[in-house]
Amino acid sequence: MAQTTSGLHKILSPAWAYSFFQNFVGAQRARKQFVEQHVHAQPGDRVLDMGCGTAEILTMLPEVNYAGYDLSAAYIEKARATFGDRGTFCVGDVGSMREALSGKFDIVLAMGILHHLDDDQVLQLFRTAHDVLASGGRIVSIDPTFTTGQHFFAKWMIRRDRGRNVRTESELLSLATQQFPNTKAVVRHDLLRIPYTHIILECLKRD
Ligand SMILES: C[S@@+](CC[C@H](N)C(=O)[O-])C[C@H]1O[C@@H](n2cnc3c(N)ncnc32)[C@H](O)[C@@H]1O
Repeated sequence: MAQTTSGLHKILSPAWAYSFFQNFVGAQRARKQFVEQHVHAQPGDRVLDMGCGTAEILTMLPEVNYAGYDLSAAYIEKARATFGDRGTFCVGDVGSMREALSGKFDIVLAMGILHHLDDDQVLQLFRTAHDVLASGGRIVSIDPTFTTGQHFFAKWMIRRDRGRNVRTESELLSLATQQFPNTKAVVRHDLLRIPYTHIILECLKRD
């Protein structure tokens, strides 16, 4: 996927600058609210994290059985070094990870990944999630989104995201509901300390 490097990405490329920015905007607090208000993980849940990055989410989850997959070998190495046996961490593309997965999961997480994927990849991700979820299990996703009436600064920031496939609520719902007819979308403008808009999907597997 071709990507351009905007001025914002250049400014934030040193690790210290990125960390400072994350603290400034309240990224950790936002993650905590997402976990508490939308993920609802219980101790012992089997959790699959698609596009897990460095698996930072583990600092906010109870004692779950965690499996994280990410395309980046460097992120997976960091996750292993940080969290050791608190989970399994594998390099994998969400488009072709189905064969690598065994057993059923109670929760599938897709945090900040859908807007990096094209429509075919998103459909494949939902198919895989549907296959591996236990009955009554849920996939919960969070991504930036465009809405009408959104703060101009939120729109400006989201236009500069590295993800080239930021979708509206109806675009995301039309993809998710092909596998998960029982999907709830929540648009939030309050998760970060700066104007920003997230969309959260909570998709329930019924059968
Ligand atoms: C914005 S980061 C989010 C990371 C993590 N979920 C979090 O919330 O901190 C998006 C992640 O998706 C991963 N990613 C992008 N495309 C992917 C793909 N096709 N398969 C697996 N991971 C992918 C990237 O390597 C990156 O770690």
